[in-house]
Amino acid sequence: MAQPNLIRKFRNFIIRQQGRAPWLLCLLVGALAGLGLVSCAYNSQTQLLAPPQIAGATFVGSEACEQCHEDISHDFKTASHYRLKAPGDNAKNIGCESCHGPGSLHVASGGGPNTIVNPRKSPETCFQCHLDKRAEFNLPSHHPVIEGKISCGDCHDPHKGDVIPGGGTELASQNDICGKCHTEQLGPFVFQHEALREGCTTCHNPHGSVNARLLVARNATLCLRCHFQQQMANGTIYIGNSNHSGRLQEGTCWNAGCHEAVHGSNVNPHLRY
Ligand code: HEC
Ligand code: HEC
Ligand code: HEC
Ligand code: HEC
Ligand code: HEC
Ligand code: HEC
Ligand code: HEC
Repeated sequence: MAQPNLIRKFRNFIIRQQGRAPWLLCLLVGALAGLGLVSCAYNSQTQLLAPPQIAGATFVGSEACEQCHEDISHDFKTASHYRLKAPGDNAKNIGCESCHGPGSLHVASGGGPNTIVNPRKSPETCFQCHLDKRAEFNLPSHHPVIEGKISCGDCHDPHKGDVIPGGGTELASQNDICGKCHTEQLGPFVFQHEALREGCTTCHNPHGSVNARLLVARNATLCLRCHFQQQMANGTIYIGNSNHSGRLQEGTCWNAGCHEAVHGSNVNPHLRY
């Protein structure tokens, strides 16, 4: 009966944890994640809360999943969430059931229907530890995750490798993830906007934003982070070697008649249609 004990320990831990100061949580989560992989700056928003519940089921541990889900179990050792551990000297991995809920009924029934949580159908399982994400997906412009049209798993692989798309470093593969559904914006274009090399998330918040189209800024600031505005002696304003006096009052940089082809153009090097 080692497993249920472990889980009870974990549950005690997380319940105790809720009343504590954030720095302590931070410290603990940092220690849990091990290898110094997670910094405190990150996990201030993440809390280890209770895993999902399934009526009548108990926790059986990740080993019990191996016999039937061999591939996922094998790859899981490379996954970010694999490193989450319950506290204590014999700390074991929280593992599969932290997202899928207790598996005893599922295992006993040989994988019977409705015996386990599948987060593809609902993001609730992710929200319970990533509390701040629920708010992001409720912002005026957001990916329809709560609406069930896409899932966290479409962009985050929970079972294998870095859970951050592209590992936060390989931006090409982050763009490819967005490009699975947004082929038109990915290109290739004859005149590609080089900003895309920095990744789609330089301009878009992947979860949600107060600005339309998930944009990180709603006006020229979006563009002026990389393109400089120069005021000449005679008062004219230049951007990219071209006189923009008066143009910035017309609206955004990407409204009709301006750089509408903001991702890239096949006809015009200045990103116009
Ligand atoms: C005795 C075999 C067996 C064991 C052990 C087992 N499963 Fe399954 N599981 C299945 C079968 C069969 C299915 C349904 C077919 C499929 O999707 O592969 C399934 C489906 C699932 C699904 C998808 C369910 C859905 O509604 O879409 C999840 C999630 C899952 N298993 C997780 C787990 C976890 C976590 C464990 C360990 C606690 C586990 N399984 C242990 C056989 C098993
Ligand atoms: C960080 C949360 C998390 C952990 C931990 C986790 N899973 Fe999953 N699992 C998911 C998500 C999310 C999905 C749905 C993927 C999607 O949206 O396509 C899923 C789907 C599944 C499925 C359904 C088959 C499929 O591909 O849709 C199985 C089976 C499964 N997981 C087994 C496991 C096993 C076994 C482990 C442990 C070795 C595990 N999971 C650990 C989040 C998790
Ligand atoms: C049992 C709690 C728990 C559950 C459930 C959980 N996570 Fe996590 N997750 C964590 C912790 C703790 C970390 C590491 C601390 C951190 O970086 O915020 C983390 C890290 C992450 C990160 C990387 C954060 C970063 O800044 O590097 C992503 C992305 C993520 N989780 C997505 C998900 C998704 C998607 C799901 C649902 C399929 C999920 N998580 C379910 C606890 C959980
Ligand atoms: C449309 C794709 C997409 C979806 C859907 C998505 N994410 Fe993300 N998420 C990303 C990308 C891309 C990043 C990396 C952001 C960056 O590098 O600026 C990220 C970063 C994160 C992070 C770490 C940084 C942060 O913002 O805290 C967490 C945690 C996270 N996602 C959780 C979730 C959860 C939970 C869900 C589902 C409720 C989800 N994500 C759905 C694309 C997505
Ligand atoms: C699994 C498919 C899928 C993936 C992957 C995906 N998206 Fe989306 N995206 C959608 C859906 C569905 C909508 C909502 C479309 C609608 O409401 O008409 C959307 C909407 C958007 C919008 C707003 C469009 C509008 O008209 O307001 C932007 C911007 C966007 N996605 C950018 C991204 C970025 C950046 C990524 C990668 C981090 C990404 N998407 C990954 C499916 C996806
Ligand atoms: C330089 C900033 C920037 C980058 C980088 C960027 N976008 Fe956009 N994106 C925008 C702007 C601005 C709009 C709004 C265009 C409009 O309203 O006409 C937009 C709109 C969108 C839309 C809504 C449909 C449309 O075309 O109006 C989608 C989907 C989208 N972007 C996806 C992506 C994807 C996927 C990537 C990465 C391959 C990406 N974006 C990179 C600035 C950017
Ligand atoms: C992440 C940095 C970055 C951001 C943000 C960015 N750009 Fe760019 N943009 C570049 C780079 C790099 C080039 C290629 C070098 C050059 O021509 O300055 C470029 C080229 C261009 C060009 C073609 C150059 C020309 O001579 O006409 C236009 C037009 C342009 N950007 C418009 C925009 C607009 C509009 C926005 C805001 C929606 C924007 N950029 C945001 C980095 C960026």
